[in-house]
Amino acid sequence: MDISLEPVTEDNWRACAALSVRPDQQAFVNDVAYYLCMCHYGSVWQPLAVVSGGEVVGFCIWGVDDDRSRWIGGVVVDAARQRTGIGRALVVALRDRLAAEPGCPNVALSYSPDNTAARALYASLGFVETGEMEDDEIVARWSPRDPAGTGGPAGNVGATR
Ligand SMILES: CC(C)(COP(=O)(O)OP(=O)(O)OC[C@H]1O[C@@H](n2cnc3c(N)ncnc32)[C@H](O)[C@@H]1OP(=O)(O)O)[C@@H](O)C(=O)NCCC(=O)NCCS
Repeated sequence: MDISLEPVTEDNWRACAALSVRPDQQAFVNDVAYYLCMCHYGSVWQPLAVVSGGEVVGFCIWGVDDDRSRWIGGVVVDAARQRTGIGRALVVALRDRLAAEPGCPNVALSYSPDNTAARALYASLGFVETGEMEDDEIVARWSPRDPAGTGGPAGNVGATR
């Protein structure tokens, strides 16, 4: 799947905000508009548009924690485009981009225990559950020096929901 991670701009923010997930997935994520506000008014998270074939097909946010681990959040693939490899491609691209930053000990994310699709996706990419929880979500980490994953210490990047 050919995707690119692009800045959110005045030209594409509407397409980002128009992304939607299936009704049964709405409990797992916030609206993209919420994430955009969180990024704009907060100081931790940065947004990215996921573009394929010139169209915005997904969205994600990332941030740096106190312990310098990088967090991926707000992963959304538009309902009409799910199950075509976009989610896998975006997580791999963002994981590898963040892991390559100097001083990054690991890349972390979290998900609801009920989110079987996300859990399967992240596990297949080598994210390992560490036993940490972030609010009511399971934390999993991927280390560039330990792709099999033994995780790392908890940080304090803050919840996205
Ligand atoms: C989770 C999500 C991002 C996956 O995106 P996607 O583009 O559909 O994923 P892909 O097509 O790349 O599939 C990758 C893997 O995810 C898992 N997966 C995706 N959809 C699934 C489903 N409906 N049921 C079970 N597993 C699923 C599978 O392991 C799949 O690998 P496979 O196709 O080899 O079986 C997407 O379902 C989504 O946006 N969900 C709603 C928002 C959400 O839950 N975000 C994550 C918050 S932590």
